[in-house]
Amino acid sequence: MIELKNLDVQFKTDHKEIHAVRDVTIQIDNGDIFGIVGYSGAGKSTLVRTINLLQRPTNGSVRVGDKQLLDLNPKELRQARKKIGMIFQHFNLMNARTVSGNVLYALRSSKLSAEEKHKKVAELLDLVGLADKHDVYPSQLSGGQKQRVGIARSLANDPEVLLCDEATSALDPKTTLSILELLKNLNEKLNLTIVIITHEMEVIKEICNKVAVMEDGSVVEQGDVVSIFTEPQNALTQEFINTATHIDQALAKLAKHPTLLNLNREDTIARLSFVGESTNEPLISSLYSKFTVSTNILYGNIEILHDTPIGNLIVVLSGNPTQIKQATQFLESQQVHVQELEHVQTNEKAKVVPLNREYVV
Ligand SMILES: Nc1ncnc2c1ncn2[C@@H]1O[C@H](COP(=O)(O)OP(=O)(O)OP(=O)(O)O)[C@@H](O)[C@H]1O
Ligand SMILES: [Mg+2]
Repeated sequence: MIELKNLDVQFKTDHKEIHAVRDVTIQIDNGDIFGIVGYSGAGKSTLVRTINLLQRPTNGSVRVGDKQLLDLNPKELRQARKKIGMIFQHFNLMNARTVSGNVLYALRSSKLSAEEKHKKVAELLDLVGLADKHDVYPSQLSGGQKQRVGIARSLANDPEVLLCDEATSALDPKTTLSILELLKNLNEKLNLTIVIITHEMEVIKEICNKVAVMEDGSVVEQGDVVSIFTEPQNALTQEFINTATHIDQALAKLAKHPTLLNLNREDTIARLSFVGESTNEPLISSLYSKFTVSTNILYGNIEILHDTPIGNLIVVLSGNPTQIKQATQFLESQQVHVQELEHVQTNEKAKVVPLNREYVV
């Protein structure tokens, strides 16, 4: 288990002080794939670098397993760091060494015999799918293959934790998926705890079970991925999710939808979000049979997150206002979250935005 408690990191430069991490408390359980998402400069790398004390916090404590890292002497810290692997956006491979040379280098202070080390390197390269690339130099590898070498190297000392700082940001979407799949396999096979930094909620959606959202040094929201995706509390979280689920694109496109340009005054535009069971209910048709409210679906999307379907519909509800109100109350009672939207026209630009301006879209 990793426990970061009340962490602060402040940098003092010549003219100013930067508070890169502000009072962050996070608990990461064994076997978690914990995502940290935020825009550039949010403090993600600084925060994650405190987990192996590459960055010492100005305040707070860092516990990894049963060790308070700030209490360790240099030798103990070196030992503790071996149990924490790390991979990077630009792979950081040594170009003058072969693939196996790169992995072998990570074993330089290991107590294994030369023969055991070679065996270990072969096993690791096999594990990451590079069994046929031992003697190749990094320059002859694709980005995805280079990251696989990075992963093999990070696993050389049998870490319990793997820190990934934008590990897929330099890769195309297909390669990204294959690397994420590899990480997921390693998580399951080796019970490896993984911490992933990313600026893409898509990455979180793909493999993480927990997520923390960072803004300006602080964690503004954290929790398990399914609840964060279904009930985000923070505007920034909502923004990341809208991008990952393509709702933002849908809303932008819908702004020009003929239905929305010709709405009756009593029509209501709404976003319906639901989890699991609700998706199986013939809810839409019951809105008509129960309340004579008709539903025009303008956009629909279902994501499967850890076997849980999460749905989003953008609809226009038409009918008598009282009945529309009853219909939305009924939906809420069926665990369908209803968010009213409005169509606004400003400076020639049409937008669909939340009515209550609870979220920035
Ligand atoms: N060694 C340093 N000295 C001074 N300021 C720093 C240092 N490292 C980071 N910062 C500052 O701390 C803030 C957080 O930086 P950090 O690299 O942690 O952000 P990030 O979320 O990882 O961003 P990105 O997505 O661009 O990698 C930024 O304002 C950055 O300029
Ligand atoms: Mg960073």
